[in-house]
Amino acid sequence: MAIVFSGQFGWFVDHSKSISLSVIDSNYTCDPKLFIVNKYGFRKSSLNLFIDESLNKKQQCYELSLEHKKKEKKKNKRKHPLNAGEIRMIEYHNEHVEFISSATKELLCGNKLSFTDKAENNFKNLNLCEVYLGKDLHEGFNIVCLEDQIYKNSLTNTCTVVYQNERYLIPPKSSFIVSDFSKLSYLAKQDIVYDLIVIDPPWENKSAKRKKDYTTLPEYDLKKIPVRRLLSKHGIVAIWVTNKPKYIDFVKHQLFVEWGVRVVAHWHWVKVTNDGEFVTDFSSIHKRPYEPLLLGQRENCELRFCEIPERKVICSVPCNIHSRKPPLNFILSSYVPENALCLEMFARNLLPGWLSWGNEVLKFQNSKYFCKNTSS
Ligand SMILES: C[S@@+](CC[C@H](N)C(=O)[O-])C[C@H]1O[C@@H](n2cnc3c(N)ncnc32)[C@H](O)[C@@H]1O
Repeated sequence: MAIVFSGQFGWFVDHSKSISLSVIDSNYTCDPKLFIVNKYGFRKSSLNLFIDESLNKKQQCYELSLEHKKKEKKKNKRKHPLNAGEIRMIEYHNEHVEFISSATKELLCGNKLSFTDKAENNFKNLNLCEVYLGKDLHEGFNIVCLEDQIYKNSLTNTCTVVYQNERYLIPPKSSFIVSDFSKLSYLAKQDIVYDLIVIDPPWENKSAKRKKDYTTLPEYDLKKIPVRRLLSKHGIVAIWVTNKPKYIDFVKHQLFVEWGVRVVAHWHWVKVTNDGEFVTDFSSIHKRPYEPLLLGQRENCELRFCEIPERKVICSVPCNIHSRKPPLNFILSSYVPENALCLEMFARNLLPGWLSWGNEVLKFQNSKYFCKNTSS
């Protein structure tokens, strides 16, 4: 089970394990190098390790922390007073910091005491009903990804496909659509509604711009996502937001209104290093060690399958690849019916039983992000 600890305030999730579990019956497991996470420049250090394994890890951490401290020193010599956005960010931080720190403390302590599969029986697996009229995949299949096509592994085991000379692992019962935002109508045209829709939009922010990992979308375009059409009567929509109050306000007061949804919960994902430290200091205004996840349900949703707690923390060691989010399937499965239909939008990986949509949907299913088990 990928939830290693579940407490009053939330969950501690093992992201690496959840990736391995998604292809459990294959010869592959998640590459552990993706989850070597140190304080400060954690992404850079891990990325270096990924590229050059000969470098000494401790030496790298040391150098990076020095580099970081130098940068922080420079930054701390602030010449200008805080602007309105920064003041709002501090207000937002102050509103949530107490809950976030006590919840994280609970999760980390619980974790140390019982880094086991304690919560295993509390969570059901999500199964997607076999309703897609998609193209069936099978072992070793060569695919050409077309935009108006759902690809599906209807087998109960992981299969591999070859796409543009690269090998990809397709989890059991998973489906995907490789598509640009401009072709969203294809998804809406399918006569299916989802019990759970997870959305991780490519928000326009400095970090995405700097990293140039993917293209971004103006926030107003997100209003075009046909959530009204895609969400089931009692369904849940969960959207990842940045810490910018501008975007949090936009989601709560404009986007959800457009989608006919109201906020039912405001959760936080807290990122810790392999040693259980926050990945960045709480004091840094622009690089907080947490990110918000807002959950909504239809305005008129009266009868709920399950009450969603307003505040929770999901704690995990983050993947060292920019913007990769922790898995939500094990957590949210408790709030949707068994055999729920689940959709992830702007996905970069697949999940067993889910439909994933996005222009990079297969990216992290590439076998290069996994280790091949040579013993079998
Ligand atoms: C924030 S990332 C998603 C990260 C993902 N949830 C994860 O955990 O790895 C946003 C994704 O949206 C994709 N994207 C950007 N513009 C898009 C567009 N016009 N149509 C479809 N997807 C787009 C990006 O390529 C990127 O894969």
